[in-house]
Amino acid sequence: MNVLLVHAHPEPTSVTRHLVDTASEVLAAQGHHVMESDLYGMGWKAVFDGQDFPERTNEDRLSFIEESGHAFANGCQTTDVEGEQRKLQAADAVILVFPLWWYSMPAIMKGWIDRVWAFGLAYGYRGAGNAYRYGEGGFAGKRALLAVSVGGPEKDYSPRGINGPLEQLLFPITHGTLFFPGMQVLPTFAVYGSAGIEPGRMAEATAAWKRRLERLFDDEPIPFRPQNGGDYPDCHVLADHVAPGLTGLLAHIADAPQFGSDVEGS
Ligand SMILES: Cc1cc2nc3c(=O)[nH]c(=O)nc-3n(C[C@H](O)[C@H](O)[C@H](O)COP(=O)(O)O)c2cc1C
Repeated sequence: MNVLLVHAHPEPTSVTRHLVDTASEVLAAQGHHVMESDLYGMGWKAVFDGQDFPERTNEDRLSFIEESGHAFANGCQTTDVEGEQRKLQAADAVILVFPLWWYSMPAIMKGWIDRVWAFGLAYGYRGAGNAYRYGEGGFAGKRALLAVSVGGPEKDYSPRGINGPLEQLLFPITHGTLFFPGMQVLPTFAVYGSAGIEPGRMAEATAAWKRRLERLFDDEPIPFRPQNGGDYPDCHVLADHVAPGLTGLLAHIADAPQFGSDVEGS
């Protein structure tokens, strides 16, 4: 299988880069073909702006959606974006490895998503508006996994922990960014208390990470509800009989109680 590792940390000795190196070794040893996007190493342009559209369709007003759709459909995207899309198209699984910064990914990785997730590919698929989204779309058939280095202790992310459960904090990425264009998203892997982690705990985390990597193509994805599976009769709102009484993010996960708590990690 082809696996794309996208990572965002400039420091080779960081926990994040240790997770990347481990993934690269384990996946290659399993016979997978590993591709990497080392965003800091590549000097990835994080900011989505007018330079992304060298051949504008509308010079008067910058509409990102319109220009993204035009550039994607007409082969006039920038070469860096095209290169990343080629890797993505070839990938059977995509692993995003990053340190948790303000409950999210570093800006350079957000910028990778903003620029590479083009209109016509990741949204507005097949020119059909929102007909294909949440479980269907340009990235259907691919697996996705987040591997996150988390500075805070696991307790802070426990079901009633002060920060909130990590899997819920990452919902905009797992559900809104990866499941939206059709990827099957695996439960997040986290290394908690990663700032100044001692060697013994790092060894345990590495062993847990290896086990997750070995099951990359076997583990069950998070059971997000697909838009077109019947739970959303008007493609907008859950039917009354689905998850009755449940509102908010967890209503969109088929066995929400499990995912309201913590994530597997170390
Ligand atoms: C800008 C910034 C924001 C951070 N935000 C969080 C946060 O929201 N939650 C948390 O637990 N740790 C946070 N941290 C701590 C990092 O998660 C921690 O330093 C990192 O995971 C250590 O692993 P590394 O060796 O891969 O950098 C933040 C650190 C920085 C620099």
